[in-house]
Amino acid sequence: MAGWHWETASSVGFLLLLLSALSSGRPQEKCPGDKSCPPPRPPVVLIPGDLGNQLEAKLDKPSVVHYICYKKTDVYFTLWLNLELLVPVAIDCWIDNIRLIYNRTTHSTEAPPGVDIRVPGFGKTFSLEYLDPSKRSVGMYFFSIVQAMVEWGYTRDDDVRGAPYDWRKAPNENKKYFLALQQMIEEMAEKAGGPVVLIAHSMGNMYTLYFLNQQPQAWKDKYIKAFVCLGPPWAGVAKTLRVVASGDNNRIPVISSLKIRAQQRTAVSTNWLLPYAHSWPKDQVLVQTPKTNYTVQDYQRLYSDIGFEDGWLMRQDTESLVDDLTPPGVEVHCLYGTGIPTSESFQYSDKFPDVEPTVVYGDGDGTVNLHSAVQCRRWAGKQKQPVTLKELPGNEHVNMLLNFTTVAYIKTVLFSP
Ligand SMILES: *[C@@H]1O[C@H](CO)[C@@H](O)[C@H](O)[C@H]1NC(C)=O
Ligand SMILES: *[C@@H]1O[C@H](CO)[C@@H](O)[C@H](O)[C@H]1NC(C)=O
Ligand SMILES: *[C@@H]1O[C@H](CO)[C@@H](O)[C@H](O)[C@H]1NC(C)=O
Repeated sequence: MAGWHWETASSVGFLLLLLSALSSGRPQEKCPGDKSCPPPRPPVVLIPGDLGNQLEAKLDKPSVVHYICYKKTDVYFTLWLNLELLVPVAIDCWIDNIRLIYNRTTHSTEAPPGVDIRVPGFGKTFSLEYLDPSKRSVGMYFFSIVQAMVEWGYTRDDDVRGAPYDWRKAPNENKKYFLALQQMIEEMAEKAGGPVVLIAHSMGNMYTLYFLNQQPQAWKDKYIKAFVCLGPPWAGVAKTLRVVASGDNNRIPVISSLKIRAQQRTAVSTNWLLPYAHSWPKDQVLVQTPKTNYTVQDYQRLYSDIGFEDGWLMRQDTESLVDDLTPPGVEVHCLYGTGIPTSESFQYSDKFPDVEPTVVYGDGDGTVNLHSAVQCRRWAGKQKQPVTLKELPGNEHVNMLLNFTTVAYIKTVLFSP
């Protein structure tokens, strides 16, 4: 009935005033006498990383790559993460469903004909607590953090909510997502009578930075309490070069790297995450072959030499999205693992790129290079809100979400005044 209220900005502003007036009166009623009130709980939005939430597919395809592949399904099924689809032969069907096709005219990607992909659970947590709906521990992701929050008094899908997205794409192709995220944050803040804490992991940090860079400072002052960055790849990740060149099966022996490369390359986000020249030494050799050395300045040649010209276009489409690392303009807590061997450069034989490289390792969390994670320090003093860095020695990129130190740190951010 009162739906029209929300359609004009001035009414929304009025309601906000009203809500904040109401909520500021609330604690006194709940905590009579001289008992000290428990600190208010800020609502929390979780933003996952690359591969970090479930994807579903429904099929009605004109053709399939193998006779065992489904051509048509009546309902949506889990495409990620579903281990049953990643076994030999079935993986060919999976690749043909999850890959994207780049259109050089529109500079955008689409699913193959007859494949409909959707992101389940926006506003809920299930899609990022466990990547595999059967809740096998191999796909456990944000569960430990959410479960700890529930013990602190939070309620799933109410004051802790997830913001899953199509992680195959970069922000330029996820415009509706950012609108939905903005609306959810506003709703949660209005309901709680106070600003929201954003907790992102991995590429989710780049998404969140992009989002915050689009918002006016007044909006951020009103709606965001803090931004907790877990394992952020601010300057990209060297490992992506191996992914686009020769594929990366993440040491799962049944999966052929070259085979999965076909899918991995087509994800725009992989190309978005190639190391950035703003932070990587310009003369550092990232990919070496008997004939050529490639640095951050040689991507056009690299893409051409690996026979993936679309990748260079994807890189150009997305490079400017956050590459000036504009300060987010909110309180930042940057947590990053160190001491885990992390791919830094790749040496190929003359069979490049259709061969596994020799990997040279450096410091980081096993995925994100240390050098990339700590770029948040450049914001200290460049924005009025505090920027705090916390090293987590011995923490691997995904396992850091399970570590007690990480969870305890999040608690101090949530319950600080
Ligand atoms: C690319 O997009 C344009 C414009 O929508 C369309 O006309 C064209 O058919 C598309 N190309 C391919 C290869 O799908
Ligand atoms: C590539 O760089 C290495 C040093 O990093 C150097 O020894 C080698 O000669 C270079 N190769 C070419 C082809 O330039
Ligand atoms: C959790 O992180 C801390 C801080 O980096 C580290 O000292 C500890 O070994 C980690 N615990 C586990 C179980 O990995």
